[in-house]
Amino acid sequence: MEIEDYIRQKGKRLEKTSRSIRDYQVFDFNYVPERPLMRDEVRPIADAMLRYLRTGISNNLLIVGSRGCGKTMLVRYLAKSLERQEGRLFFYINCRHHNTSFKIMAELLDVRPRGYGLDELWAQFQARFGKRSVFILDEVDLISEKDRRKDLLYLLSRSDRNYMVVMLSNNPRFHQQLDNSIKSTLQPEIIHFRNYNADQVMEILKQRARLGLYHYSAGDLAQLAGLTYKNANADIRVGIKTLYLCATEPQAGVDANFERARRDIVADLIHGLNDKNLLILKAAASVPDGHVKPVYEFYRRLSAAMHETPFSYVYFYSNLSYLQSIGLIMLVSTKVRKAYTNQIQLLFDAQVLGQVWQARFQ
Ligand SMILES: Nc1ncnc2c1ncn2[C@@H]1O[C@H](COP(=O)(O)OP(=O)(O)OP(=O)(O)O)[C@@H](O)[C@H]1O
Ligand SMILES: [Mg+2]
Repeated sequence: MEIEDYIRQKGKRLEKTSRSIRDYQVFDFNYVPERPLMRDEVRPIADAMLRYLRTGISNNLLIVGSRGCGKTMLVRYLAKSLERQEGRLFFYINCRHHNTSFKIMAELLDVRPRGYGLDELWAQFQARFGKRSVFILDEVDLISEKDRRKDLLYLLSRSDRNYMVVMLSNNPRFHQQLDNSIKSTLQPEIIHFRNYNADQVMEILKQRARLGLYHYSAGDLAQLAGLTYKNANADIRVGIKTLYLCATEPQAGVDANFERARRDIVADLIHGLNDKNLLILKAAASVPDGHVKPVYEFYRRLSAAMHETPFSYVYFYSNLSYLQSIGLIMLVSTKVRKAYTNQIQLLFDAQVLGQVWQARFQ
């Protein structure tokens, strides 16, 4: 095909797309809706925030729940609406991108992380952030293993400024992994976000379709909501992406667009894993029946070959539970002879892993 033909065809397609999309923003995963769907989980979070703002006594929270169940969106929404009344109080940070105590503090202070000692940075931090400051630590379980003591959590919870900390995580075991000294001062109230049910998935996607598209088919919407609920563990992101694909590539059909959306989102997820988790996943994909012990042995050998220091078995296991919490694997207890052992099942197409692996390690 000539370049000119390509440009002409592509231009036509884009023009057609822009005729069906009313508002592109609505399909951005970071979009915070004006009126999110109400759910029971809102109350304890809003109550804790309001209590803190009134009394100044901190009431730390740990919000856990699976992928795409609305944790980040809801906390950002509440922060936004409370700030409308009370002024700047909330400070959001994603620990995936700033993954040590040092980097988080430096980011919040807007300074370069080099050239300071932790104490110095902390002194600046306390001078900068007064009483009545709420720190939202999103994806808090992604603070690096290098930052073993998680100094920031310790400092925040001990500060006489009574900061409030709101932590978000996929990992229901995050709290158990914390040091006792942190646990005893942080004492977060734990709030479990349930997955959306089929009606809620439908309601949220319908709202997006109304805001984002000029026209859509009610039948397609019902079908894609059903697929999102049943086959994507109610991860709203998969639904939103499918909705977008159905508007831009209608000829592919709902089923194919759903599969593509799911694949893209799994690819993003695997892409975002750190090297150690990628090694664990690779080992799990390489051992045929996926029994945990042989997978661990394989993982140790693979790590050595890649010049990475492997985790101890305990850390390895807690990373398996992380991979399970983000929906990439499932741990199934099976009986072998007379004993029970855990078997790892992959919940995605191994081809995607192969591509990321090649880009990272080969
Ligand atoms: N109640 C809701 N109303 C409208 N949109 C929602 C609602 N809940 C979630 N969404 C949308 O679904 C998408 C996923 O939500 P969100 O990013 O908050 O998930 P999460 O629980 O933080 O997931 P992860 O654990 O992967 O970070 C977002 O685009 C969000 O806007
Ligand atoms: Mg999130």
